[in-house]
Amino acid sequence: MKNWFTKIKTYYNWGSRFLNNSYHSSTKARIEEEINKKPFRTELINYLLNSFGEKQTVYLEIGVRNPEDNFNHINANEKYSVDPGIEFKENPVDFKITSDDFFNQLKLGKILNPAIRFDVIFIDGLHIAEQAERDINNSLQFINEDGFIILHDCNPPTEYHAREEYCYDLSPAQKYWNGTTWKAFVNFRKRKDYFSCCVDSDWGLGIISKKIKFGISNKIENNFYEYSIFNLNRKECLNLISFEEFNNLIINKLM
Ligand SMILES: C[S@@+](CC[C@H](N)C(=O)[O-])C[C@H]1O[C@@H](n2cnc3c(N)ncnc32)[C@H](O)[C@@H]1O
Repeated sequence: MKNWFTKIKTYYNWGSRFLNNSYHSSTKARIEEEINKKPFRTELINYLLNSFGEKQTVYLEIGVRNPEDNFNHINANEKYSVDPGIEFKENPVDFKITSDDFFNQLKLGKILNPAIRFDVIFIDGLHIAEQAERDINNSLQFINEDGFIILHDCNPPTEYHAREEYCYDLSPAQKYWNGTTWKAFVNFRKRKDYFSCCVDSDWGLGIISKKIKFGISNKIENNFYEYSIFNLNRKECLNLISFEEFNNLIINKLM
């Protein structure tokens, strides 16, 4: 009896610590704010594909999970999907391999045609900086001169969303996870030979282009990738802009 009472008391104490914890409640509010932002990734990808007008567009998605969530709703003339099937067992994709294997086989001419060039590549595979950086660099070799690379999850609202460990869902971010993709994007943004920005929606949609002048490169010093420095300088690190601002930049390109 005493044992049960102690157990219940422990559960109660821990439960109320979680429920009344200010880090948990403020993070919950940030999650609500983020999931209500628009447009979602699918709309933004289709918007960019549409900007090519009559051209026959070619689309590549790295990391697909359930294609009903995004891939099946993308309007391109030719589409390819890559996923090793970690999160969705059915895994109905074109290439059931990792992005590294995909690009290696593509370079060797073992799949598709190594001369293929994509108009839009959506990178949404393993959300760890080192992998995201490799995905960006490989994608740069296969993107058309006027194409767009889109990187999901570049704008984690809190350090809990930016944790390395995906499976731990008792943090204030709960099951929401952006991983460390932001580091790869912020680092890439130092380059002066590409333009980049991040549309402030759907956890941060990082966009890379060779042609469209999205703004200046990232000059913030953050050698150790501290989340607090990123957070203080978020706008400049990411070139964080609203969809309306982004739309104006794209419209100017079309005129
Ligand atoms: C966040 S989900 C993708 C969501 C999807 N793009 C969407 O918009 O709904 C991440 C996916 O990346 C896949 N993945 C994990 N490691 C990968 C890798 N090395 N290469 C490619 N995909 C990977 C997982 O299997 C998972 O299905």
